Amino acid sequence: MQDSIALVPTMGALHAGHLELIRRARELSSTVVVSLFVNPLQFESATDLSNYPRDHAGDTAKALAAGATRVWAPAYEEIYPAEIVKISAGAIGEIFEGRHRVGHFDGVLTVVSRLFDSVKPNYAIFGEKDFQQLFIIKKWVAQNDLPIDIIAVPTVRDSDGLALSSRNIQLTPVGRRTALVISRALRAGDKAGMLQMLATEPGFRVDYAEVIDEETFELALPETQFKRGIIAGWVNGLRLIDNMRMGSDR
Ligand code: PAF
Repeated sequence: MQDSIALVPTMGALHAGHLELIRRARELSSTVVVSLFVNPLQFESATDLSNYPRDHAGDTAKALAAGATRVWAPAYEEIYPAEIVKISAGAIGEIFEGRHRVGHFDGVLTVVSRLFDSVKPNYAIFGEKDFQQLFIIKKWVAQNDLPIDIIAVPTVRDSDGLALSSRNIQLTPVGRRTALVISRALRAGDKAGMLQMLATEPGFRVDYAEVIDEETFELALPETQFKRGIIAGWVNGLRLIDNMRMGSDR
């Protein structure tokens, strides 16, 4: 094991998906910092921000049990001590998630940059569940030549296929059943199949369902080698996202 620091940035409300990130971090480094910070800059709605689940004591216990050596829950002023200079996520920050959540990825990059400045990690671990976020962070780190390895961890799913998300606890039992259409659709293999499957569930309102090239985040072409289905939409007032490499189960 290297003498290095691995950072697992989170907004708390830890579930099994986060614990997988922490376990991966522990495989890489003897020092594993888990940050818990609900970043107001990446929320477009004050209601969404105030409804975001918070459980500091529970999160700390879970993170330590999964292998964290330090759980860091900074105050707002620690992260943003002065006037905030936002980092732009560029054009990719304005499509798909970025089109529906204006400014979201600028907010994510801004907080990630502040977390990196404070922790100075050798590794930072992110889930593939937020695939566009992962893509944008990797690109920004490469463009800025930062000495940090961005490590991607596959999405963790419940046995029924639902991708784990801190928002899932807000789903009603009916909403949860409805949400299963997302992973079913992602297994359809192409855009037409995804849309057809999503249309079988009137309780799900689609924001987008596309197939992208994993390497560029542009729409996939027939010759694209690594294609990924990406879906976002609404179930009982909650916005859910998911993605899967086409032809795989993750
Ligand atoms: O993926 C998340 O939980 C957040 O976007 C992150 C990376 C912790 C930044 O606030």
